[in-house]
Amino acid sequence: MRVLGIESSCDETSAAIVEDGRKILSNVISTQIDTHKLYGGVVPEIASRKHVEAVNPVIDQAFQEAGLSFDDIDLVGVTRGPGLIGALLVGLSAAKAFALAANKPIVGVNHMHGHVCANYLAHPDLKAPFISLVISGGHTYLLEVKDYLDFEVVGQTRDDAVGEAFDKVARALGIGYPGGPIVDKLAKKGKSREIFPRVMLEKDSYDFSFSGLKTAVMNYLNQEKQKGHTIVVEDICASFQDAVIDVLVEKSLRLLKAKGLKTLVLSGGVAANSALRSRFNQVFAGSDYKLYYPPNVLCTDNGAMIASAAYYTYQKGQGQSLYADPNLGILSTKTFD
Ligand code: KG4
Ligand code: ZN
Repeated sequence: MRVLGIESSCDETSAAIVEDGRKILSNVISTQIDTHKLYGGVVPEIASRKHVEAVNPVIDQAFQEAGLSFDDIDLVGVTRGPGLIGALLVGLSAAKAFALAANKPIVGVNHMHGHVCANYLAHPDLKAPFISLVISGGHTYLLEVKDYLDFEVVGQTRDDAVGEAFDKVARALGIGYPGGPIVDKLAKKGKSREIFPRVMLEKDSYDFSFSGLKTAVMNYLNQEKQKGHTIVVEDICASFQDAVIDVLVEKSLRLLKAKGLKTLVLSGGVAANSALRSRFNQVFAGSDYKLYYPPNVLCTDNGAMIASAAYYTYQKGQGQSLYADPNLGILSTKTFD
């Protein structure tokens, strides 16, 4: 079964064709990062306009690169949410128009479900059950994934998402947007010190809170400036990043143990973080725990992960409607709808 996947929830317009949920035939991504960089973050109205410009060419290119025609597609998958409303509407409208014109079924999928599915594309052998740490610019989840569509949200952020914390700290440091990859790079040259809090919340909680950490970094920067001290940006990056990683690792390990599972799957933009990957690799070395994460291009937003999620959703007979509207709700406890 060949699925056309369309993604436009934030600042990437992407279309991809994926076979049987696992094999990428094409994955075209048009990013708007260079435009939003000028403003230090995503400007929703500009994002919508850029999606309008890009969506049709990107879909055409996905077919060209796969060497397929419209008739070769069996299903259309599209991101319904969460995301920016104007941005989502562009992809959703294009997907509905395509499905109607080509007479194909359509499935609206949850963007975060897509992030998890990026791992099915990268690792053909990967099967549930596993724990997934889903860490993106807008969301942070710890999921117990029992099957393709059966999962439980065990933990989530109570305030800022992980990626958001990276982006806000980078902004305070004046090092550019998006902050995650820049902090990742600079941290490699920095010296990490335990100057920022590791916010664990209640003893048994799997929830996260990153807003206090972000504020702690900002307060530290202000105090150091007032004292006339020189700020070593690389050291701040390394210290902040380690504070994030300590929390993510502690909670993920605790959940793996509590559920008796041995497989951890990272997904979302922050799963591209090199220090996070190597920390988990280090912690798991010599044990029977297994770590999976997608290559960087599948960590950040892309249409292939949406096609994969649509495939599995369709297999279960869920979500086919030409009347699908954007879904702005967060992930509910039991469903990826
Ligand atoms: O998943 P994604 O592309 O979009 C959302 O669904 O939000 O994630 C984007 C986020 C941004 O906050 C970006 O700074 C972060 O992922 N990110 C990283 C890295 N690469 C991207 N964060 C830390 N380290 C990285 N290498
Ligand atoms: Zn995303």
